[in-house]
Amino acid sequence: MTMKVLAIFCLTAALSPAFFSQAAAVDTTVLRNEHGVELHVIQTGAIVQKLIVPDAEGRMGDIVAGFNDLAHYDNNTYSPYFGAVIGRVANRIGDATFVLDGKRYHIPANDHQNALHGGKSGWSVKTWNMTEVDSDEGQAVLLTYISPNGDEGFPGEVHATVKYTLTESNEVLIDFEATSDAPTPINMAQHSYFNLDVPGTNKTILDHDVFINGSYVTPVNELLIPTGGFEAVDGTPYSFEVVDSIGSRLFEIDSDPVGYDVNYVLPELAATVSSPASGRVMDLLTQAPGMQFYTGNQLNGSVIGKNYQAYPQYGMFVMETQDFPNFVNEPSFPACVLRPGGVYKYRTVWQFSTLAAASPPAQPAVSVSSIGN
Ligand SMILES: *[C@@H]1O[C@H](CO)[C@@H](O)[C@H](O)[C@H]1NC(C)=O
Ligand SMILES: *[C@@H]1O[C@H](CO)[C@@H](O)[C@H](O)[C@H]1NC(C)=O
Ligand SMILES: *[C@@H]1O[C@H](CO)[C@@H](O)[C@H](O)[C@H]1NC(C)=O
Ligand SMILES: *[C@@H]1O[C@H](CO)[C@@H](O)[C@H](O)[C@H]1NC(C)=O
Ligand SMILES: *[C@@H]1O[C@H](CO)[C@@H](O)[C@H](O)[C@H]1NC(C)=O
Repeated sequence: MTMKVLAIFCLTAALSPAFFSQAAAVDTTVLRNEHGVELHVIQTGAIVQKLIVPDAEGRMGDIVAGFNDLAHYDNNTYSPYFGAVIGRVANRIGDATFVLDGKRYHIPANDHQNALHGGKSGWSVKTWNMTEVDSDEGQAVLLTYISPNGDEGFPGEVHATVKYTLTESNEVLIDFEATSDAPTPINMAQHSYFNLDVPGTNKTILDHDVFINGSYVTPVNELLIPTGGFEAVDGTPYSFEVVDSIGSRLFEIDSDPVGYDVNYVLPELAATVSSPASGRVMDLLTQAPGMQFYTGNQLNGSVIGKNYQAYPQYGMFVMETQDFPNFVNEPSFPACVLRPGGVYKYRTVWQFSTLAAASPPAQPAVSVSSIGN
């Protein structure tokens, strides 16, 4: 494995022996800023393999789920999309089929009768090209993937890029872009699983505090396909318009397995998650209209990740920014079809900071206006 180190600091000391012992054929790029924040990106799935940020005491910790053995990322069965960029269409397509411009298309079903996250072999398991790029905003790495016409049943050849930039303000900027030579639905999402206390066996995110600036969700059936329309969160366990812990109302949710796994409608998004234990704060901003909030309901300790940690149920949370699930089949949602000559493009920002000692619960530290493209 070759390492492309963009950082001005030497990274050798930060790499564990296990990191070198693997025989993976994919490259890793490490971005590091002057505060010691590190973002490790691999070619498979444009995956964020490690994200190392300080806690309130300045101790560094890797807050995302993943594997040391990069081969585990090739396998959707083994990895529940840890850290991956999802495409061509994130989230679920009901009955794994849709009609576009009068023609019916079929995607391989991989979640009961539905297609999840691009089908059986979506962009999350593909090998992307990766190059260092110049950016005024920080250290950046650009990943590109050409999805051929007919890839998992989708029409048109799509040229997709994802650019990760690590700024000196401890932000990760994620720029998604795609073009196509034929009309195709598209919905790209970043699927990192976070635990702001550093993931670990028996550790949950139930004590993390959350703010989500969304007044509506897109309600779903038992297989997580939207039933159409919008539901106000006010007075339900889905409301995080006032900061509350993830665990305070999670067990009131009527789903199997129990937990959050729903798309929030975000007129102007800000979400903030903080952990009173570590003091880490994550603000999320996006230009996308929706965000799937998932609390690792389907994790059960069977997947063993970095540092031999098992990831238990509710061990991690995910915030997937996206267009609305199943928009290809749901007339009440905007149809997000990319056509030749058009450009699919948006930015999501994760910003990391820490709670000051004895401060009130976190409120968003950044405003949407700061994420201009
Ligand atoms: C994928 O992972 C599953 C679960 O660990 C394993 O049973 C299967 O053999 C793996 N498939 C490949 C192609 O490695
Ligand atoms: C990736 O790199 C290969 C080999 O250099 C090249 O043939 C291919 O066109 C590249 N793909 C993209 C999407 O840049
Ligand atoms: C996880 O919890 C179980 C049951 O309480 C305990 O036996 C085990 O030692 C714990 N593992 C770790 C790594 O703390
Ligand atoms: C929440 O979104 C509204 C617009 O819908 C915006 O006016 C407000 O500033 C946002 N709140 C935060 C804390 O970002
Ligand atoms: C745990 O999850 C894995 C992967 O989803 C699944 O194969 C396994 O059956 C589950 N185990 C239990 C005890 O539910």
